[in-house]
Amino acid sequence: MKLVLSILVAAVGFSALAADKAKPVDVSKIPLPVPRKVDFEKEVYPMLKESCFSCHGPEKQKGKYRCDTKEGAFKDTDYGPTIVPGKSEQSSLIHMVCNLIDEMMMPPPSDKKGQSEPLTKEQIGILRAWIDQGAVWPVGPIQEFVKPVTFAADIQPVFATACGACHTGAEAKGGFDATQLGAVFKGGNAYGKVVTPGDLKKSSLITIISGLDEDLPQPEKHKLTAKEIALVKKWIEQGAK
Ligand code: HEC
Ligand code: HEC
Repeated sequence: MKLVLSILVAAVGFSALAADKAKPVDVSKIPLPVPRKVDFEKEVYPMLKESCFSCHGPEKQKGKYRCDTKEGAFKDTDYGPTIVPGKSEQSSLIHMVCNLIDEMMMPPPSDKKGQSEPLTKEQIGILRAWIDQGAVWPVGPIQEFVKPVTFAADIQPVFATACGACHTGAEAKGGFDATQLGAVFKGGNAYGKVVTPGDLKKSSLITIISGLDEDLPQPEKHKLTAKEIALVKKWIEQGAK
């Protein structure tokens, strides 16, 4: 009997501790939900991918949380449930991205540039609106991310416009013709191969089109938009067909 009692006390003590962490938070000043219908696949999922998956995705699950899957995203935490459909102001995920919970700002602040940018007001507004609109997360793979990206349909037009003036045919700068799949694979005179299908880290093209290759004469001429860079990454990730 004594044993049972102490187990009981321990259990109660523990849950009291857990509940204690879920302190009431002041949501009066957080960004408002955007006043429109939001699209989960086009707006919400890509945002989570950009800002959260590096720590809460297929590879890492910091705090035992992953939000790249429906099963993982809706988690009950010590700070309350992450996502309460219809009630963004009660969702601990919103409290975290708004820095309302001590030491639990998400993404966590960091000195490393570009890695942990806080969500913007607009992004928080989109997340809140999605939750308020029922937090609908479709079953199965997210269409936006299974759509195949091909050189002919998606990449060639981007390269032709952004690179074509200097990188077309026999006269191409550095011997790199950016307008044909075979030539892109072959690479340039100095750099050799710049694309390794399926491997972003080994594809120096990403550094080049991010405008970060300082060895090039005009790195800024090589810089594509964030959207275009994302497209090229997706193309390489999917095998660069
Ligand atoms: C750089 C890594 C990193 C990024 C990026 C990041 N987190 Fe976290 N997250 C953590 C760590 C570390 C913890 C565990 C913190 C702790 O328990 O003290 C955590 C914990 C959490 C938890 C609590 C899980 C639990 O059960 O206690 C949630 C929810 C969460 N993060 C959501 C997010 C969301 C949403 C984003 C994107 C907007 C995000 N995180 C981005 C590192 C990250
Ligand atoms: C204004 C002209 C210009 C534009 C636009 C341009 N580049 Fe370049 N690029 C250069 C020059 C100049 C070099 C250096 C050539 C050399 O070393 O002789 C170069 C070099 C390169 C190389 C290295 C080639 C080698 O020597 O191996 C690659 C790869 C490359 N560019 C890709 C691109 C891509 C992709 C784009 C479009 C996003 C682009 N460039 C846009 C001028 C340009």
